[in-house]
Amino acid sequence: MRSLFEVKNLNMHYPVTDGLLGNIKGYVYALNNVSINIYENEILGLVGESGSGKSTLGNCILKLLNPTSGEVIFNGENILNKSKKELNDFRKKAQLIFQNPYMSLDPRMKIYDILKEPFIINKIKDKTEIDNKIKRIIQLIGLNEEVLSRYPHEFSGGQRQRIAIARAIILNPEFVVADEPVSALDVSIQAQIVNLLIKLKNELNLTMLFISHDLSIIKYISDRVAVMYLGEIVEIAPKEELFSNHKHPYTQALLNALPLINKDKPQKIIISGDIPSPQNPPNGCKFHTRCPYVMDKCKIKHPEFYEISNGHSVRCFLCESS
Ligand SMILES: Nc1ncnc2c1ncn2[C@@H]1O[C@H](COP(=O)(O)OP(=O)(O)O)[C@@H](O)[C@H]1O
Ligand SMILES: [Mg+2]
Repeated sequence: MRSLFEVKNLNMHYPVTDGLLGNIKGYVYALNNVSINIYENEILGLVGESGSGKSTLGNCILKLLNPTSGEVIFNGENILNKSKKELNDFRKKAQLIFQNPYMSLDPRMKIYDILKEPFIINKIKDKTEIDNKIKRIIQLIGLNEEVLSRYPHEFSGGQRQRIAIARAIILNPEFVVADEPVSALDVSIQAQIVNLLIKLKNELNLTMLFISHDLSIIKYISDRVAVMYLGEIVEIAPKEELFSNHKHPYTQALLNALPLINKDKPQKIIISGDIPSPQNPPNGCKFHTRCPYVMDKCKIKHPEFYEISNGHSVRCFLCESS
């Protein structure tokens, strides 16, 4: 498997300033030494509670945010070192699909102009080429050409998300980050959009980072799954392995919230308490304050990422010797 992205020791610490003078009074430790590879042509699912750093990671990988330190290697080159101009090519190849299709489409623009915008930004002027690509993409996402002369407010949430997806992929990117792309939609149409993303991934040879707090969607769409907690990846494995043989107590707790998957499991773990503040994260293992298996050393030492089988790694002392 070739890695399209190699993320190495990525840190994102947002400064927190006091309102009046703007002095830095602390940091939100949103990403802490995150290292992860994204393989060509896979859908990597990224799951975790709200506030765990999923969007920050997606945005840093796209260099929409400038991380505090670390490397994001795309096709062998560290994009974090690149100038704005050098990034033009990368911007075409790596796109973001937002959560909220109500906010991501400019209400004053017709759908045709919304879809034409990426061409303008990239100085592509050939009208025949643009029109052909727009027509092709509209078909691919399952809408009719007559939508082109209409405005976003004339469409349902699901249709708007189709249009937002069309805009993200119209220049044939290699990679997309889909950040909770169905969370704002009615449950009844979530499956349609998820199936559309799978179809597009296959037809266009896309690689995708699919972010969601919903494990049932992650289970449906992903090839591999990474679980995030307080700015760290705590477990990563191929999907089947993660759902049948997960090892991190936090992954277990997330899975216990899924009734269908766990109907046969006798020992349920319910995690107590809220996720600690990322401004003041716990010492040692970041999950120790909520972990039912907490040991003394978990409170002091920070566990490494132990590879317990091929492609399955876990950040937990319970896996240290295996
Ligand atoms: N611009 C910002 N400034 C300060 N803190 C931020 C900013 N954006 C996000 N955060 C904080 O960083 C943490 C991770 O946020 P985020 O990446 O949005 O998590 P998720 O997508 O998993 O919900 C949260 O505590 C959030 O409040
Ligand atoms: Mg988010």
